[in-house]
Amino acid sequence: RLVTVLNGPNLNLLGRRQPEIYGHETLADIEAACRALADELGLGLQFHQSNHEGELIDWIHAARDEAAGIVINPAAFTHTSVALLDALNAFDGPVIEVHISNVHKRETFRHHSYVSLRADGVIAGLGTEGYGLALRRVATLIGLAEA
Ligand code: DQA
Repeated sequence: RLVTVLNGPNLNLLGRRQPEIYGHETLADIEAACRALADELGLGLQFHQSNHEGELIDWIHAARDEAAGIVINPAAFTHTSVALLDALNAFDGPVIEVHISNVHKRETFRHHSYVSLRADGVIAGLGTEGYGLALRRVATLIGLAEA
């Protein structure tokens, strides 16, 4: 079974972008760690990043037919995008929202998430480890759904 991992705007710059907040790991490092873990869990993995809201929405639509669950770091679209929320509301499987930084410790505009209205779980402030934890949770929820 397949899990789709989606990353929003500016996350292509991870490792070089505000490393004091987001750390030194790159998105390629995160993808490699997710692929290793997905293998271990017996899951297929799709891993995408886009700076464009519509492209993320198209991937969520594709996930309706292809994926059992979604892990998403919507980045700044977290705080702005009703359209991403609507797309996720049209997806039936588990959705876990991930933020590398602890958004609640930062500016107040980062405290509200549209995506959290849909997410089954939210991970924030655990660094890039959050992606692996989110994948494990999706694996659990897929298993629970089948039980
Ligand atoms: C982020 C937090 C967002 O507020 C920010 O816009 C990002 C990254 C995180 O992973 O901590 O781009 O989603």
